[in-house]
Amino acid sequence: MSETPVKAGLEGVIAGNSSISWVDGQKGRLIYRGYDIHDLAEHASFEEVVYLLWYGKLPTRSELEALSNELKANRQLPDEIWQMMRLIPRTAKPMEVLRTLTSAMSAFDTSEYKDQTTREANLHQAIRLTAAMATIVAGYERMRKGLEPVAPDPELNHAANFLYMVKGERPDDLEARAFDMVLVLHADHEFNASTFAARVTAATLSDMYSAITSAIGALKGPLHGGANEQVLRTLKAIGEVDKARQWVIDALGRRERIMGFGHRVYKTMDPRAIHLKKMSQELGQRAGDTKWYEMSEVMEKVVHDEKGLYPNVDFYAASVYHSLGLESDVFTPIFAVSRVAGWTAHVLEQHGDNRLIRPRSNYVGDDNMPWVPLDQRG
Ligand code: CMC
Repeated sequence: MSETPVKAGLEGVIAGNSSISWVDGQKGRLIYRGYDIHDLAEHASFEEVVYLLWYGKLPTRSELEALSNELKANRQLPDEIWQMMRLIPRTAKPMEVLRTLTSAMSAFDTSEYKDQTTREANLHQAIRLTAAMATIVAGYERMRKGLEPVAPDPELNHAANFLYMVKGERPDDLEARAFDMVLVLHADHEFNASTFAARVTAATLSDMYSAITSAIGALKGPLHGGANEQVLRTLKAIGEVDKARQWVIDALGRRERIMGFGHRVYKTMDPRAIHLKKMSQELGQRAGDTKWYEMSEVMEKVVHDEKGLYPNVDFYAASVYHSLGLESDVFTPIFAVSRVAGWTAHVLEQHGDNRLIRPRSNYVGDDNMPWVPLDQRG
């Protein structure tokens, strides 16, 4: 019964200050700490972006080396986490395994920082989680196929090592570069749903592990990170390039949502999708199979003509992951493997200048019901 009109879905509501990233929805720009995503996609490694998000500046060579080494040193999981992973039924989805084991990582943090929310403690936990989440996703991917997990390779960077841990063989240069770019592009996106969930949790002065577990739960849904998995399902359901146009028209006729299109903030093409589209074409051409790319292009045109909507980050990511030989239900966990960089940066920022996040609801229920004893209720 508020006098203030409610913005459904908090659309357009500014919920706090942040200097981590910014989306200009009208111009289709994405900025991390002042740097344009196009420059970062072209030039930066994931590790450089992680440093940029956590420390607010690009690293020097020695700072980058130190961070890369710390991530490498934290890639191995505690034995207990492997044991827990072995107990999980192989039918469990990678995203639920990631959510569960990320939460469990806190129980096996034996450092002096456990349960602390100082910047030093948060950085320790951020490094630990960023490194470990990649190993959890890759390890379970092998385990559910009856394969033994592959030990991390200290000679490889975060992106190449992830692909190596999934497949058991080192990726070639194009694959490693493509995946590194995927991680750079997904690393942060201001107050999206999962980041906001992380900040709400952190703002109660709860710890980093709890905040990141909240974020993973929020990312899982198909309106957020879960869309990338649905995109591949759509492409497979369409099956052939020449069926794509009619498929989209029919789906829109049934008022269905086309996964991977539309965005709450961007009113233009998502700048991340530009790079993923190029990468999807390049990887498809190299594999001699451009069917998924071509089908995606037809869908892009029809959805734009019919609804005026553009692809978001999840749309071309699906065909990129597919070309890299990754299973569709690992796509959303991969989003988390990258976005943990941003989530942890936001927890650092929230704890650095904290105030409890506690909005009000607009109560639309009754407020004067007479009490009815249990045996008199009909
Ligand atoms: N396909 C068909 N129609 C759509 C779509 C879509 N993908 N997206 C929005 N619309 C229509 C919607 O039906 C509505 O039409 P009408 O006014 O006629 O009922 C109108 O556009 C506005 O939709 P909305 O749901 O109010 O818009 P929103 O700002 O709440 O939605 C969104 C944003 C991303 C949830 C939505 O575009 C969507 O559901 N997209 C598909 C799922 C998806 O790709 N999610 C990934 C988002 S970006 C990256 C990430 O977070 O992972």
